[in-house]
Amino acid sequence: MCGIFGYIGSEKATPILCRGLKNLEYRGYDSVGIATVSSQLGIRKEVGRIDDLVSRLNIEDVEGSLGIGHTRWATHGPVTAENSHPHTDCFDKVAIIHNGIIENYLELKTKLVERGHRFSSDTDSEVIAHLIEDNLSFSGTISGSESSWNGSSFEDACVAAFKELRGSFAVLAVREGEDKIVAVRKDSPLVVGLAENGTFFASDVAPFLEWTKEVVYLENHDIVMAEGSEVRFFDGGFAEVKRPVSTVEWDIEEAKKGNFDHFMLKEITEQAETIQRACVQDMAVVERIASMIRSGFGVFFVACGSSFHACLTGSYLFSKVAKLHVNVVLASEFENYEHFLTDRTLIFAVSQSGETADVLEAVRAAKRRGSRVVSITNVMGSSLSREADELLLMNSGPEICVLSTKTYTSQVVMMGLLACALDGNYESCVQKVKDLYMDVYNLTAKSMRDRLKDLARDLAEKDHIYMIGRGLQYTTALEAALKVKEVSYIHTEAFAGGELKHGPLALIEKGTPVFVFVSRDNEDRIVSNAQEVKARGGYLIGVSDWDNPVFDRWIKVPDCGDLNPIIQAIPMQVLAYELAVKKNLDPDKPRNLAKSVTVL
Ligand code: AGP
Ligand code: GLU
Repeated sequence: MCGIFGYIGSEKATPILCRGLKNLEYRGYDSVGIATVSSQLGIRKEVGRIDDLVSRLNIEDVEGSLGIGHTRWATHGPVTAENSHPHTDCFDKVAIIHNGIIENYLELKTKLVERGHRFSSDTDSEVIAHLIEDNLSFSGTISGSESSWNGSSFEDACVAAFKELRGSFAVLAVREGEDKIVAVRKDSPLVVGLAENGTFFASDVAPFLEWTKEVVYLENHDIVMAEGSEVRFFDGGFAEVKRPVSTVEWDIEEAKKGNFDHFMLKEITEQAETIQRACVQDMAVVERIASMIRSGFGVFFVACGSSFHACLTGSYLFSKVAKLHVNVVLASEFENYEHFLTDRTLIFAVSQSGETADVLEAVRAAKRRGSRVVSITNVMGSSLSREADELLLMNSGPEICVLSTKTYTSQVVMMGLLACALDGNYESCVQKVKDLYMDVYNLTAKSMRDRLKDLARDLAEKDHIYMIGRGLQYTTALEAALKVKEVSYIHTEAFAGGELKHGPLALIEKGTPVFVFVSRDNEDRIVSNAQEVKARGGYLIGVSDWDNPVFDRWIKVPDCGDLNPIIQAIPMQVLAYELAVKKNLDPDKPRNLAKSVTVL
């Protein structure tokens, strides 16, 4: 999703903005731009990458010690230079950048055009700049070439503008001649970094970690006025408030690639450690959550993508280990389930980023009906972490690659731990995870990667890849299929083994590659499904602890019982990575995708 970055301080803004935007790249974007304030407003914006902007537009020459920068992921208006941010008012005196969607922008734009405002983009965001302009009373006419500002202060004009907005927005606003940045966040992420050399604004903490680890996590509707070296915080009612300053534990190096070619491979190899860190939980919180689950009347796991697959895996573990039924619902489909939520319903929101709009939308709908919310997220200070009644952190460290790898296995670990806590054997479950260390380490070692590189070479040109499994191996197949498709662009689909004969078997022809996920407790049934594939010419790739004769290829993994979803996901992550590399694709930034989907 888009990225926002702002700086006001004692140093030249442009180089800092460029580095901050570069640090935001992992969030995925299609265009980029900056605005700085010195004697006048300087705007540079373009379709493409930040490096292109720097080289093509002599961006380093832009003066000013305050500025804002934006990486856009288009929602309203095509990907063009005019639609990239920052956006300005009619006289190019006010500039804004925006992450999110202004749902009432057409109504606002119509009103503003009737008042003579001239728009230069097709976006929803541009209305914010014109609203601010409109709130600053001025002499002369809109169509005039000049304007003299004699009305309310810039910050009042901004606040009045923000109040007219509906939808989701993180906004930074600046004005020519004003040594200040005015910011607001509602349902889109925005954090503030406090440093000796100035104040930073960003969509999350990684972009400004190289300057400061002192962070203020804004509440929803918060407004921030940064002027010179002073920073003031206001709540949604515009009452000045104090916000606590937290120290980020992450090191900037953690948020950098180290000696790996890509974040994806770095993060895959961190899993021997990260699954251990997922076990480091506050037992009092775990116990409170366990009792909330026991007393809940209707428990809903709500998530998207890989987090949804972790929830699906969790539902099987809750059934098998804790003998409990939980509902699992795609966050984007949750609105169809709201009708019977009560104050006894428990919502389990699982989101690595803690900013996924679909998940936040579901959580807010549930809270409106009095339901309680437990969240599992990787980002302290994220919207989800602050809107839940109870919070479990995944402790995975920053995950920069768009694909979820280490955070997926951490989520599965936490699901297993909660199931075990409900069954009263939390500690033995923790020990089982600790015992996985060497298995996971070996699965990410170079020898395994080389074998999977050979398999990737053989599959890279395939148009279709299928995956089958039963129970915990079915949810693993779903996650494995998502990994392969989103990074290699090969159509990859997973089916429950028992479903093959209900339709998907029609897809099998000679040489069709089909992965078969096997565990000892469901081996016979899934192997007979594999035989059905084999009989139609399919090419079987087994993922199991022994080389069943039905396999044409075999990926050897240890059988770890209920923890197989962790073990069996890892070689598939590596295979997905090797497929992307083989196809000369960027594993960290797949086309059309973003790390955090902060729009609905
Ligand atoms: C997974 O590899 C994808 N990046 C995507 O499906 C992701 O899991 C999904 O967007 C949910 O993200 P979240 O966990 O941050 O909510
Ligand atoms: N809705 C705005 C646009 O399409 C902002 C999108 C974003 O969050 O990057 O320009």
